[in-house]
Amino acid sequence: MNSRLVNRAPRPLLRNRSERRAPRVAGAGALALLCVAIAGCSGWPSHPAGPQAVRIAGEWWLFLSVSCAIYVVVMAALIAALLRAPRARAETETELPAPANRRFSYAVGAAVAISVALLFVLLISDLLTGRVVEAFGANDPLIIEIKGRQWWWEVSYADPIAGNRFTTANEIHIPIGRPVELLLTSADVIHSLWVPELHGKRDLIPAYGRRLRLQADRAGIYRGQCAEFCGYQHAKMSLLIIAEPEAVFAAWQNAQRQPARPPANESETRGQQVFLSTTCVMCHTVQGTPAGGKVAPDLTHLASRQTIASGAVPNTPGHLAAWILDPQSIKPGTNMPGNPMSPQDLQALLAYLRSLT
Ligand code: CUA
Repeated sequence: MNSRLVNRAPRPLLRNRSERRAPRVAGAGALALLCVAIAGCSGWPSHPAGPQAVRIAGEWWLFLSVSCAIYVVVMAALIAALLRAPRARAETETELPAPANRRFSYAVGAAVAISVALLFVLLISDLLTGRVVEAFGANDPLIIEIKGRQWWWEVSYADPIAGNRFTTANEIHIPIGRPVELLLTSADVIHSLWVPELHGKRDLIPAYGRRLRLQADRAGIYRGQCAEFCGYQHAKMSLLIIAEPEAVFAAWQNAQRQPARPPANESETRGQQVFLSTTCVMCHTVQGTPAGGKVAPDLTHLASRQTIASGAVPNTPGHLAAWILDPQSIKPGTNMPGNPMSPQDLQALLAYLRSLT
């Protein structure tokens, strides 16, 4: 036997004060990080408001619980191993007891078996959740077509009655308690629709239709976001889903089907002339007027919307004026060019656009 090894004294478990304090400092740091992370959730939609989101949230909590439990067990095993390390080193340096070796092999084997079993359970649970979520709402859903564009959402309400179809942008009204089927496609690059309180993400792919069924069970305004990097202003490509009782939704739908309100005074009349005689008319549609551009949002009922520029700014006269004059200052890279005009023309144009309820 090697006397040099036998005579070596085991090293102390924790050698000095700073080493003893290290785990406590690390624990406090982890706790602080956890608090910051949880506090960050308060400003973000995190309460499921529909059956699909409830199911997805349940799946998420299952994954989080299992992952946390495994983390705790692994950390406990690691700490136990570290605490045993000096004694174990002394033992192995003297002789290697066969029973200890066998115990180690059994422990590793059991850990691998438990890991495989847990992963299998999570896989099955995930597949089942996917099937349930996809099958939901197949009966008589409200059909809404959504086309992703750089960087806004074109929203069309299909209707079996000819002439009842209408198009809007960036705000999707839906009735509560009724399944809605979103038919998704893209006019340019790949986008992704994500309204966390109602469903998971679904890509919008050029020339390839996809479908997403969702339902809101309580009235509210649910913020959505493009979740696939789609260019410079990807971050400013948000949308609102406004869930409301059936009667309110029906009234909104009926109002949206109407052509634009005609100008009611001199200022609005001048504003309409400005609109129809400048570059606005080349890209935007206002139903009931010669403006029939299809590459930018339909403005027939612009004043009924809460935001402009796909949620970039609120729909107020000041923001609308800034957007008309210099959209690049609000959303650099947007396809809309600046429209310098006289203050009188701008005021008239604002009066007209604000009248489009
Ligand atoms: Cu559209 Cu990101």
